Amino acid sequence: MIQFILNDEIIQTGLPSGTTLLDFIRYEKNLTGTKIGCREGDCGACTILVGDIQNNKLVYSNATSCLMAIGNAHLKHIVTIEGVNMAKQSLVQKSFSDFNATQCGFCTPGFVVSLTGACVSGNVQTAAEAIDSMNGNICRCTGYKSIQRAAVFIAENVKPNLNDLLQGAVDQEIIPQYFLTIESRLKKLRASIQPHPIQQNSALRLAGGTDLYVQQHERMVQEQPELMATQDALRFIRKDGNTCTLGAATTVSDMAASPIFKDHFRNLNAWIKLISSTPIRNMATIAGNFVNASPIGDLSVFFLALDAQLLISDGTSERILPLRSFYNGYKKLNWQPGEYIQSISFELPDPESNVNFEKVCKRTHLDIASVNSALHIHVKDGVILHCSISAGGVSPVPAYLSQSSKMLEGKPLTRLHVQEMLQTVQQEIAPISDARGSATYKRLLLQQLIMAHFNQIFPDLDVYEKY
Ligand SMILES: Cc1cc2nc3c(=O)[nH]c(=O)nc-3n(C[C@H](O)[C@H](O)[C@H](O)COP(=O)(O)OP(=O)(O)OC[C@H]3O[C@@H](n4cnc5c(N)ncnc54)[C@H](O)[C@@H]3O)c2cc1C
Ligand code: FES
Ligand code: FES
Repeated sequence: MIQFILNDEIIQTGLPSGTTLLDFIRYEKNLTGTKIGCREGDCGACTILVGDIQNNKLVYSNATSCLMAIGNAHLKHIVTIEGVNMAKQSLVQKSFSDFNATQCGFCTPGFVVSLTGACVSGNVQTAAEAIDSMNGNICRCTGYKSIQRAAVFIAENVKPNLNDLLQGAVDQEIIPQYFLTIESRLKKLRASIQPHPIQQNSALRLAGGTDLYVQQHERMVQEQPELMATQDALRFIRKDGNTCTLGAATTVSDMAASPIFKDHFRNLNAWIKLISSTPIRNMATIAGNFVNASPIGDLSVFFLALDAQLLISDGTSERILPLRSFYNGYKKLNWQPGEYIQSISFELPDPESNVNFEKVCKRTHLDIASVNSALHIHVKDGVILHCSISAGGVSPVPAYLSQSSKMLEGKPLTRLHVQEMLQTVQQEIAPISDARGSATYKRLLLQQLIMAHFNQIFPDLDVYEKY
C-alpha cells in the first residue's frame, strides 16, 4: 500500500507503483491545475513540490510529476498548485498576476509551484536565485521578461525566516497554514510503516524515473518496479579518509549540495548547471545515469575520469567493479540479471590535482550533450604524475581514453605533449554521425573540449597556440 500526503489529504492507494503521479493527480484526484505538456520532463507544466524528511527535517524540492512514479511519493508530501491556494492569492500567485506574467496560463501553475518551492527552501535571497528556481519551466506565450519581473519582486519582498522556513513562508502568505502540520504527520506516517528490504533478483528497478519514463512510458505505468529511490540506505554521501562513497540513489542535487563535493570540486556549481534542470536533478540518481549507459551520460563521463568503483550486489553477495569495466558495448553492461548498484566510491582528488568537466550541446541548458569530457590531472614540478581523460558521444559507450591518458604520465606538461596526445585521442575514438552532429564534427568537438580542459586548468600553457 502506497501512503503519502497530497496537499492536505492522506492518500492510501493500491495502484501499480509505476503509475505516474501526474495521472494520479489529474485522473484519480481531478486536480487539473497540474498540466500535461511534453510528458518527458522538458516543459515543467506538470511541476509539483515533494516534501521529504531528511536529517529529521522537512525539506521541499520541485519535480516533474510526469516522470515520477506514485511509488516514489510513498511517505512524502506532494503539493500541487491547488495545495498552495488560500482564501486569497498567495504572494507568488499575486506577483504573477501583477506583473502580467501569464497569458494562456498553461505554464503558470508549474512556474508558480517552482517559485513557491524556492521560497519555502529559502532560495530567493537574490533575484538571480529566484529566476533560476524556474529553470525547468517553459512558457510558450508570455515571454520571459514579465515572469522574471515577478520573480525579482519575490526576491525583493520575501525575507526567508532562516530559523523556520515554513513558518516564515506561512507568515508571508506564500503557503497555507496546513503546511505547519505536515512534518509531524509525515514523521508519524513513517514511524508506522516498516521499511521494505531491497528485493533480490528484481527484473525491473526504478530510481528517479527520468530515463525509464521517457524511454518506456507505456510499460512503466503498468509495472510494480523495485523502488530504489525510496531506500534511505541507498541515499548518502560519506567520506572515509580520502574515499568518498555515494549511495546509488543519491541524486544530482544531493551531489551539488554536498559539502564534500563543494570542498573538492571548485567549479562544481557551473558543471551541475549543465546537467538537465533543477526538477530533473532533484529526481535523477547517479546509478540511474550509469545503468542507463547513454554514451553521453554526464555523470558516467565525470566519474570515469575519477576512476569510480561500483559496489554491485545480487542481494546475497557483493563485488567491486571499476566503472571503467562496466560497459561492454552499446547499452551492454558487465553484470548478471538481478544485480544492482549499491554504492559508488572514488578517491577524492589530491588538493594539488585538478578536475574539469566540459560539455557541448545544441543549446547550453536543459540539453543532453553532443560531446562531453572530463579530465583529472596531477602535475607536480612541471611533470604530469597522473592523467585521466574521459569522453562521451564519441563511441558506443561513455569512454575512458586509456591510451591518451597514459601517454602523458611522466612527461613534462608542455603544449607539444598535449598536442601529441590529441592525435592519439583521434585514434582512440569512433564517433558516428547522428542528429547531434557528424562524426567529423564530434572529432573536432572533443579536440576542442580537451584543449578547453587544459586552457581552464593551465591558462599559461597557451594550449590553443600552434607549436
Ligand atoms: C529533461 C531531461 C533532461 C536530461 N538531461 C540530462 C543531462 O543533461 N545529462 C545526463 O547525463 N542525463 C540527462 N538526462 C537523463 C537522466 O536524467 C539521467 O540519466 C539520470 O541520472 C537517470 O537517473 P534516474 O534515477 O532517473 O534513472 P531511472 O530512469 O530510474 O533508471 C535508469 C536505469 O537505471 C536502472 N537503475 C537505477 N538505479 C539502479 C541501481 N541502483 N541498480 C541497478 N539499476 C539501477 C534502472 O533500472 C534503469 O534501467 C535527462 C533526462 C530528462 C528527462
Ligand atoms: S509534462 Fe512536460 S515536464 Fe512533465
Ligand atoms: S502563459 Fe501560455 S504558455 Fe506560458
